Amino acid sequence: MTKKNQIYKCEICGNVTEVLHEAGGELVCCGQAMKLMEEKSQDEGQEKHLPVIEQLPDNICRGGDGIIVKVGEVAHPMEEEHYIEWVEVKTKSGKIGKHFLKPGDKTEMEFQTRDEIVEVRVYCNIHGLWVKSL
Ligand SMILES: [Fe+2]
Repeated sequence: MTKKNQIYKCEICGNVTEVLHEAGGELVCCGQAMKLMEEKSQDEGQEKHLPVIEQLPDNICRGGDGIIVKVGEVAHPMEEEHYIEWVEVKTKSGKIGKHFLKPGDKTEMEFQTRDEIVEVRVYCNIHGLWVKSL
């Protein structure tokens, strides 16, 4: 059963997709079922993926919620073969903001909204999906 906002990956070609509307069917790519990317919430090993969150001062975010997201307690690599593909924030009212990255980009970014930010997800091209609830 698919669920809204789940991330699936094809283990053959590498396509990655997100469920925007759950309807129950199986997602298939290259002739086989796509793999559900588990949302990991505990860092393991040397590389760090869990986002580190800092609140922006009120005078910067003008009455809303604003955060600085850093990917990894130790900055995650941003190399051609291994990098953070995107960082996403979800607000209390269900708005989603996604920042796509490429190799060489910084792993630190700001998100500002008038709504309360409740969750941050990070996607590494090698190590998959990570989530932090606020
Ligand atoms: Fe990684």
